[in-house]
Order: sequence, then C-alpha cells, then structure tokens
Amino acid sequence: MELIKSNTSRVALVAGASRGIGLALVNELLMQGDWHVLAACRQPDQAQSLINLRKEYVDQLTLLSLDATDEQSLANFKQQCLQHCQHIDLVFNTIGLLHGPDLKPEKSLRQMRLANLHSIFAANAFAPILLAQSVSALLAKSSQSWFVSLSARVGSISDNQLGGWYSYRAAKAAQNQLLKTLSIEWARTQPNTCVLVMHPGTTDTDLSKPFQRNVPESKLFSAKFVATSLLALTLSKNSLDSGQFLAWNGELISW
Ligand SMILES: NC(=O)c1ccc[n+]([C@@H]2O[C@H](COP(=O)([O-])OP(=O)(O)OC[C@H]3O[C@@H](n4cnc5c(N)ncnc54)[C@H](OP(=O)(O)O)[C@@H]3O)[C@@H](O)[C@H]2O)c1
Repeated sequence: MELIKSNTSRVALVAGASRGIGLALVNELLMQGDWHVLAACRQPDQAQSLINLRKEYVDQLTLLSLDATDEQSLANFKQQCLQHCQHIDLVFNTIGLLHGPDLKPEKSLRQMRLANLHSIFAANAFAPILLAQSVSALLAKSSQSWFVSLSARVGSISDNQLGGWYSYRAAKAAQNQLLKTLSIEWARTQPNTCVLVMHPGTTDTDLSKPFQRNVPESKLFSAKFVATSLLALTLSKNSLDSGQFLAWNGELISW
C-alpha cells in the first residue's frame, strides 16, 4: 500500500462518496488539482462512478471501504487511513439516510417504528461522531483542518414549524448536539481542527427524489452547485468558527 506524498498535496476524505453530494464533492476536489482524495463508501468495488474517476485520477484518488454504522468496519477503515496518509486536512461526512425500501419518513406518531428509529439514528447521528473518532489523530496532525458533516435544516429544533419526519429530524438534531460537543472538546485538545455542521439546501439526489414535487425549480440545487458552495464555504472558515451550524450560503442556522 502506497503512502500519499503528503508534502505535495492536501488530503481530503469524503465519507459517503458513492453518490449524491459526496460523489460531487469528490469530483470538485479532484478538479481543483491540489488535493489527494480518500473516497470512502460501503462497496468501493461496486461504486462505478468512483471506479471511472479513479481511472482518470489514478495518482489523486484512493478508494476506501467504510460502513460507518459498523464498529468493525470503522476500525478497519481507521487502519486503512493510517496506512495511506500521515495527516488529513479536510473530512466531509455526507453519509445520510431518509428513506429506503421499507423505510419512509413518518407523517404521524402512528407510523413510528423502533427499527426505523435505529437505522435513521445510526446513519444520521451515530455515524458522524464515530467517523470523527476514527480520524481525529490524523486531523490533529494538520496545521489547519476541517471536520464538516452534512446535517439538515429540519434538524433545527427552533425552526420546526411543520412537524413530521420524526426520526430524521431528531437524528439530525442529535448529530448537531454531538458535533457541537465535539467542537468544544477539540477547541481544547486539537484547536487546529474546525468542526462545522452544514445544511446543503434541497439537492437533486436519490435522497430528495421522492419529495421534490413541491420544490420550486430555483430551490432545487444540483449536487455540483452544492459541492462547490460547501467547499468554498468550508475553506473560508477557520478554528475560530468551530461549532457553527451553517446553510450552504453561509447563513447561520439556529439550533
Ligand atoms: N439531498 C438533499 O436535499 C439534502 C437536504 C438536506 C440534507 N441532506 C443531507 O446531505 C447528506 C448527503 O445527502 P445526499 O442527498 O447526497 O444523499 P444520497 O444521494 O442518498 O447519498 C447518501 C450517501 O450516504 C451513504 N451511506 C448511507 N448509509 C451509510 C453507511 N452506513 N455507511 C457509509 N455510507 C453510507 C450512501 O452510500 P451507499 O451508496 O452505499 O448507499 C450514499 O453515498 C445526507 O446527510 C443528507 O441527510 C441532503
């Protein structure tokens, strides 16, 4: 396994890189030219878009395996990261789950199911903090690093006007609290790392597909636009901004 030449490039890790906003971020980072990108997803050998990108950017892209809801996979992933690089400058967690074959966001209390709560919390709340634990030592070794995780405006408790989507809302609110707490610990123990939680805006991906009907065209963003906006916003921030909950356009969102 080859160690990245970290003196020539900054190292970015994208978790949830197989599709959607994560894949768009991988593309954006590669196009910028001065990043080595670690792209982590559950099944890298089946992630055709990443496999194609790897052919084009053979020296700049490394594919890693990660199921962030599985402790053994997280432990293996940590080892893979340590084998590939000496530091990480930027982590983007884009892992998220809203619906699936047997999973729909709840419209009412009647629809609450324990199994659904477990899977929604595992992906949206537990995964980001466990990922942070896996990469903290590598982020600490960079002189300015960022740990950015995608939350959602519906995770804001004070902004909750509509109700519904119980488990997704609550899991994003839990993620916000976990990462706010992390920002306070890291301000003390690794003050070079800036922790940010971000709302990407409604983005045209598999996650939002079933819910796009009432979204005006001007408010439905492409994954490419969102990736460019989130990356520019991140790089404009430093450790003094750590602990913020931000929308894609830099607006602060209330907790
Ligand atoms: N799209 C929107 O309008 C919108 C709005 C607000 C917030 N967000 C948030 O933005 C983030 C990205 O959303 P998206 O629209 O890009 O979603 P997406 O297209 O559905 O992609 C979700 C990604 O998460 C990965 N993932 C799910 N569970 C995982 C696990 N246990 N371990 C590793 N990877 C896992 C998926 O991998 P597989 O391919 O292996 O399934 C996929 O790469 C999410 O956190 C979402 O909640 C999105």
